[in-house]
Amino acid sequence: MYRASLRRPSVRSQTLTSRGNYLGGELRRPPDFDAELVSLDPHSGEPVGRLQVSLHDVERAVTAASDARRAWRETELATRIAAVQRVAKELEARGEELARRITREVGKPLWEARTEVKAAIAKVGVSVEEGLALVREVTLEDGSSYAPAPHGVLAVLGPFNFPLHLMHGHVVPALLMGNTVVLKPSEVAPFVGELYAEVMHAAGLPAGVFNLVQGGAEVGAALAAHPGVQGVLFTGSYRAGLAIQRATLEQPGKLLALEMGGKNPALVLADAPLDKALHDVAWGAYVTTGQRCSGTALCLVERPLLEAVQAGLTRMLPGIRVGDPFSEVFMGPLATAGARAALETQLAAARSAGVEQVASSEAPSGAAYAPATLHRVEQFDSTQPYLTEELFGPDLTLMPIDDLEHGIEIANALPYGLSASVFTASASRFEWARGHLEYGCINHNAPTPGASSRLPFGGVKQSGNHRPAALWSSLYCSYPVATLRGGTTRPALSPGLDW
Ligand code: NAD
Ligand code: SIN
Repeated sequence: MYRASLRRPSVRSQTLTSRGNYLGGELRRPPDFDAELVSLDPHSGEPVGRLQVSLHDVERAVTAASDARRAWRETELATRIAAVQRVAKELEARGEELARRITREVGKPLWEARTEVKAAIAKVGVSVEEGLALVREVTLEDGSSYAPAPHGVLAVLGPFNFPLHLMHGHVVPALLMGNTVVLKPSEVAPFVGELYAEVMHAAGLPAGVFNLVQGGAEVGAALAAHPGVQGVLFTGSYRAGLAIQRATLEQPGKLLALEMGGKNPALVLADAPLDKALHDVAWGAYVTTGQRCSGTALCLVERPLLEAVQAGLTRMLPGIRVGDPFSEVFMGPLATAGARAALETQLAAARSAGVEQVASSEAPSGAAYAPATLHRVEQFDSTQPYLTEELFGPDLTLMPIDDLEHGIEIANALPYGLSASVFTASASRFEWARGHLEYGCINHNAPTPGASSRLPFGGVKQSGNHRPAALWSSLYCSYPVATLRGGTTRPALSPGLDW
């Protein structure tokens, strides 16, 4: 059997030294800083590097983005397209360095970090070729028309779990639509953010069009609430999304695109293709060490297949390799030791409330490592936090359902509405489920995670505010301007006008 090891590989290099925030076209350390941010390697717990955090730089970044706003808006679309295409080239040139940095800062296995970089590169082509098509100017037969306009300065707040792809997924459409950007990457992966700023610099964007400030929630909050910011493109937890909504209540004109969490169910019906369902449910629950917003949290199985699913998953878990993310593993550590402690607390509370653990993988015992676990619950209880809260770790709950309708009832009782999967051989049962599940992504015989950049990606309830990202991000990066064209001939006078 595989034995996990904490042995440090030679690929880890020296401690990184930050060049600072990226403001008005240059990377520089803040002259006045309020705090220090330390990025930690979740495999070893050792520092990756230290950065200086400055709330004053939020002001400077918004000023730089505001100053650049008019010229960028007036820049021809073809020039903006060429600029983001250069970004794709630079991402490609520094792809391996970016992947290794992702692995080092958040513990994502290197194979998976490489797929993240590839997705970021492909994002540019999809945004140009398919995203822009959603928001082009349209002229009606009477000459009236509507056309997209940029909002102005957009703040982008990134999460740790895809520390490159998801912030970039907001930045590219924002720039294409003519907005300028201030990015605050996740505080868990600031050196990925800094490398991204170097990529943007090398792509030769005009000064001030793209800016970066580092820091945690305090910097994010200052940026989101700044009156010089016309929109906030946020990907992260429901808790932080709610805080942003509350902090901007007095600014109803500010665009908020909130991509938040999930508690995603997979419904396995009695006629499901068993091997496929087992693979996709386990892959969906444990990929990225369970840290995907769309990761599978609940496996709801029709009773005739329940024991077979439990036996299959129980056999599979010991085969999940957990360990050094620079080696051949499926799961690295969680992104932080704090996340591991929080997960352990939540699982301990669930077990003392009677939840039964039925299987587990092995995992190294130190740093931020957690094993893949499988728990079984006999019936849904909406007051049980374990069954309703997002754990954001490698745990799956198995639960029986009487039939499809019962499964949908449980799925719709969850506070989130991001991604649901239905495993069934019947196209019509799937279609029926699709018509009744309250989710933004509803997959047939496919895992809950693994979203396509060529489709919209977002959810309802605590998962989002009806501004889906991925393909549809061009829509929230602009607003439509409608124009009537009246010509030069005076119309017939309306009744009651005696001119
Ligand atoms: P988080 O909410 O802790 O942080 C996300 C970002 O928001 C960070 O940059 C953080 O500094 C900033 N932030 C935190 N509090 C803030 C505040 N009050 N005001 C302004 N900014 C604030 O999330 P995380 O831990 O980095 O990421 C995990 C969460 O993200 C999970 O809940 C996951 O489901 C969600 N997520 C959602 C999607 C999606 O597309 N729906 C994708 C990935 C991750
Ligand atoms: C995520 O953004 O956390 C997951 C995207 C996906 O794989 O569905």
